This record gives sequence, C-alpha cells and structure tokens, in this order.
Amino acid sequence: MDHFRYVNRELFCEEVPVRELAEKYGTPLYVYSQATLLHHLSEIQTAFASAKPVVCFSIKTNFNHHISKLMAQHGSGFDVTSGGELYRALAAGGTGDKIVFAGVGKTDEEMKYGLGNNVLLFNVESEQELHALGAVAQSMGKVAPVALRVNPDLPPKTHVKTDTSVKGVKFGLDIETILDVAQGVVGHPGLSIVGLHMHLGSPILSNEPYKAGGEKGLKLIAELRKQGHPIKFLNMGGGFGIHYRKQEALPAKAFADVILPIVKEANCQLVLEPGRFIVGNAGILLGRVIFTKESGGKHYIIQDAAMNDLIRPTLYDSFHRIWPTHPAADLPAPPEDYEAEIPQTFKQNVVGPVCESGDFLAKDRNLPKVQRGDLLAVFSAGAYGMAMSSNYNSRLRAAEVLVTGGKHRLIRRRETYQDLLAPELDCK
Ligand code: LLP
Repeated sequence: MDHFRYVNRELFCEEVPVRELAEKYGTPLYVYSQATLLHHLSEIQTAFASAKPVVCFSIKTNFNHHISKLMAQHGSGFDVTSGGELYRALAAGGTGDKIVFAGVGKTDEEMKYGLGNNVLLFNVESEQELHALGAVAQSMGKVAPVALRVNPDLPPKTHVKTDTSVKGVKFGLDIETILDVAQGVVGHPGLSIVGLHMHLGSPILSNEPYKAGGEKGLKLIAELRKQGHPIKFLNMGGGFGIHYRKQEALPAKAFADVILPIVKEANCQLVLEPGRFIVGNAGILLGRVIFTKESGGKHYIIQDAAMNDLIRPTLYDSFHRIWPTHPAADLPAPPEDYEAEIPQTFKQNVVGPVCESGDFLAKDRNLPKVQRGDLLAVFSAGAYGMAMSSNYNSRLRAAEVLVTGGKHRLIRRRETYQDLLAPELDCK
C-alpha cells in the first residue's frame, strides 16, 4: 500500500503532483509520503498489538532526522547499529528504554555510549564482544542488558549479500555454540543475559523463516533459562519484505500469525526491528532525463539520479519499478509486470552520469520513449536509498522532501559544492 497514484496521467504523492516538487526542489529528489510511512508503522503495531511489542524502527534504512522524529512521535523505538545511529535516535527523541544496539563490531566507545544511555538491549554477536561488553559495563559500575544474537542456520532466503542467518555469515553466534558461550558468563557481574535475538535476512517474502527461526529460538530460551539466565525478551529482528516488482509483500499480520504464538509460548516480551517495511514503499526517487542515446544496439536513458543516489540495483541487481511521471496519453499507468509486452515500449537501460558501467537503475527494461527534461520516478526507494548514498564522483547528495496531504516540506537540503570540501578545509 502506498500513496503514489497516477491521476489523469500525472503522478501524485498524496495530493501533490510530483512535477511541482521536482520544479521547486530540483532533481535528483527523494520524495516521501508521510501517510504511507505512518500506515506501515501502524500496520505493524496493530498486527502485533496483543503482544505489546517494543517496535524499534531500524534507522539504517532511512536515517533522516525528520522521519526518525515521526517514528518516535508515533511510539516507535530504534534499532541502531553504530554510535552515529544511536546519536541520531536520541536526537530524534528516542529514549534508551526503546533502543536496541546491534552490530558485530561495537567498539568500547560505542558500548560506553549505549550503556550511558541505558539502552534496552545490546544484541551481542560473539564471545569476545560479550566479554568486552561485560568489562566495559563493570568499569562503569553497570550491568549490561544482553540479548544473544543467534544465527539459526536456516536455508537461504534472500540475496547472498543480505542473508544473515545461513551458516558461515559473520552475524550472530552459531546455534551449536551459543549455549557454551552463555554458560561461560553465568553469574558475570557486568552482564545480564535477558534476551535472545535473531535477524533472518532482508527482504523476506514469506513467514516460514520466522516460524522456523522462532521454533529454534524456543528451544534455546528453555536451555538458557536452565542455565539460570532470566530470559525476558525475544527479538525477532526485521526483514519483512515490501512491494518492489508488484504487490508481492505479505501483510504484517501474516508475520504476526507465526511470531505471536512463539512469543506467547516463550513467555517473553517481543521486540521487532522493522525498517524496509515501514519506509520502503513510502519513498520514490525522481530523476530528470539529461540525454538519450544508442550504443552498441542498446538504448540508454541517461538521467540525473545515479548509483551514488540509489546503489541497490548496482549492488544487488535489485529491481525497482521505473516509469515516467507524465506518461503519454496512450500509455498505461506503470505496469504490474515489466517483463510482459507493454504497448509503446521498448527495452532500455536507465543509467546515471557516474563513470562506471555498473551505474544503472534498470537494465533492458520495457519503457516508453522519453525526451530530454522528462521526469522518471523510481519506486520503492524509501529504504536503503538515501541511507546508502555517497558523494562518489563528487556528486552532491540529493535533497529529500516529505509530503503530507497537500503540503510538502524539505527535510534535507541538497548538498552544495562547499559541503564537499568542508571536512577537508577543516584541516588547514
Ligand atoms: N535488524 C538487523 C539486525 C538488521 O541487520 C537489519 C538490516 C534490520 C533489523 C532491518 O531489516 P529490514 O526490516 O529493513 O529488512 N542494504 C540492503 C539491506 C541490508 C539489511 C541490513 N540489515 C538492501 O538494500 O536490500
């Protein structure tokens, strides 16, 4: 579900024609729909309501301060994975009691920062990390609340670069060794093992892995309790998929259907770390066509949004729907199935100005003929879009706009040439 609609062959975000936004704020431009964001947060809160979950928005998906503030105002906590993300979560009004701190490589400084802000849980991913955290906590006269992150060793579910619970990845404690590691810290004065954490991968389009992971989790929780660890939290991570190609994602309720019985049996407080599900379909990236050209029999649309703005196609061969914001009279609204024959279209490559052959947003995609100055919308770009952007080729990072109803406001200004040099000029 989202609030991007074609009305009379013109793309709207809620009640605002996106062309107006491109004209006012320039391109490339990220445009977010507040109603879509809040709808998805509330879909999760409602589906899991009976368990009174601690929902921690995974801030890595979209770190914009104004979006984080909305999340906090609407009852969400934060899943953070670095000191920088913790800083952002706190700046947005997040409080430690609803923040979980993940990551395989937390430094002592980051541990101190988390402990100083009384985060709800540290998701701990290795034996060394566990002991280091215990030592840091003791040096501060504190006891660190820990959820051990297990790698439940499930079959591959998603792209090899984003699957986090198959054997051999860097994440979590192996299911075969986690109990020995836990046994080794029974009675540790700086540690309290109060939870079990898993994050199965991202994006996941089935609820099966949550059932399978949850069932393995139940057994572990029983064993951890036998060891004397007072397990109170079960953190099932994030990973709920969204619509990229078509209406392919499951509703939150489908995940709740398998997770809620497990949490009940575990007699635990449920923690969730959704990111993409909340923000992914709530954002589009607008690019303006600079040139079109033919090369080696291929048709290219060169527009001003590039791999530095949205790296997912380059990095994971990800599919994002793309369509002109003002399709011609005889063209349909963006198709559900781009692979099928679409009248008035031909195979084109959508690329950006970056000096790499890997700089593309779509390859061999059925798209209509476009002209210099036309606007293209790249859909489902709200998650891991701006958050993974860079200044590669000294390109200025895009601006971001938040739309609510008929209103819009800039929530991140476009960078300037001066911004590019500023950190270097600080080093005179
Ligand atoms: N919790 C943990 C521990 C995670 O590692 C992640 C994502 C999440 C929660 C949030 O997952 P989500 O609900 O957003 O699926 N850059 C890749 C995705 C990387 C996922 C990293 N971890 C992409 O663009 O597809």
